[in-house]
Amino acid sequence: MKLWGGRFQKATDHMVDDFNSSIRFDQRMYRQDILGSIAHANMLGECGIISKEDSQLIQKTLHEILADIEAGKIEFEIDAEDIHMNIEKILISRIGDVGKKLHTGRSRNDQVALDIRMYLKDEVVQLCSILIELEQVLISLSQNHLETIMPGYTHLQKAQPITFAHHLMAYFQMFKRDIERLMDCYKRINVMPLGSGALAGTTYNLNRHLVARQLGFDEITQNSLDGVSDRDFAIELASCLSIVMMHLSRFCEELILWSTHEFSFIEMDDAYSTGSSIMPQKKNPDVAELIRGKTGRVYGDLMALLTVMKSLPLAYNKDMQEDKEAIFDAIDTVKLCLPVFIKMIETMKPNKANMYKGAQGGFTNATDVADYLVKKGLPFREAHEVVGKMVLYCIRNNKNLDDLSLDEYKNCSPLFEEDIYQAISLKHCVEDRSLPGGPAKKAVLDSIEHGKQFISKMKEIF
Ligand code: ARG
Repeated sequence: MKLWGGRFQKATDHMVDDFNSSIRFDQRMYRQDILGSIAHANMLGECGIISKEDSQLIQKTLHEILADIEAGKIEFEIDAEDIHMNIEKILISRIGDVGKKLHTGRSRNDQVALDIRMYLKDEVVQLCSILIELEQVLISLSQNHLETIMPGYTHLQKAQPITFAHHLMAYFQMFKRDIERLMDCYKRINVMPLGSGALAGTTYNLNRHLVARQLGFDEITQNSLDGVSDRDFAIELASCLSIVMMHLSRFCEELILWSTHEFSFIEMDDAYSTGSSIMPQKKNPDVAELIRGKTGRVYGDLMALLTVMKSLPLAYNKDMQEDKEAIFDAIDTVKLCLPVFIKMIETMKPNKANMYKGAQGGFTNATDVADYLVKKGLPFREAHEVVGKMVLYCIRNNKNLDDLSLDEYKNCSPLFEEDIYQAISLKHCVEDRSLPGGPAKKAVLDSIEHGKQFISKMKEIF
């Protein structure tokens, strides 16, 4: 018999039991469900809504059920629909009528909202600490490559020389924002909905603040309809995770490109690459490709959540049961990708010589030639044109700007002197860009220092 079976004269069709049931995927919230019920039972006892003895027996039995689940002694039933009714049913089977008092002043609608919020709070903390680990790896890699010159690109065309450290620290900033976004999202998850009842609160004099305090929530929800029908926090989290994946996928795309024969800026460790079943020479960056691919599924989860919630009238609707697989999948995917990504970049071998060679061709110091003329008094637009013509001349004669003789330089502008060669050396081009945020060693060291302060502040929290 169903816990809600009173008004029915016929059993549900087996197909409907199966269709309606969420136990397959919501059983992972068993801990949150039980801890939430313990807090609820404790509050019912404290407020005199049930007796202290009943409250204690319920709490004690719930602790035992938790231990039994963790010891693998319990099998959940599809017929009991979801994790909430499975636990309640087990409780009643153990302590009979006393167990039937647990659900006083509560609905599955506020119960499920509580469980998801509790579950997501734990997950956000874990996600942040993995992201902090990634940030640490990025900092240590950067420290080793402060002088590793490589080409910077725009439109995937060689643009100006930078360093590998500078490039890596760009990703540091992206993941820093991801951590900050997750922390902000946490604030809106951290609101306690119990007491919303099915939709209109309850007539019992519950102490919602006591439950919130016991479960470590900062606030309680302020509207019972919103309390049961809000899933904004899950959508927000999926959107934070989509951005994390977008960042990972941009990084992976670059790593894939850099491991091509054509670039050869990095080589993946053998332990983080795979071979081909037909082509013996192949070493493929499968891990990076798969992370790039999995980005699509996390975006899909976000779209699924937005679409499930679109047009839903207040308050709870069964559609909302569809929230769990999507948000769980988004979290699981990010938690699967991050650790393998961290190891992959920790073990990859940058090829400094090829990066340097890459920075050499393609006139990456052309801006610096123009800047040289500006420093000698030519307006920038004119300098730009002079150097544009020089580049054309070089292309026609198959030369680099560095290869031109002083006479060739002087033919283009009388302002050029012997010091031009020094001014346009790659090392100089990088070191001259020492404004805060720039690629010069000094500027990157400052951004690393800034990053380290962020990490130690985060480590106090997580
Ligand atoms: N399994 C449901 C869910 O995940 C729990 C809430 C069900 N409430 C209801 N009135 N049917 O959303």
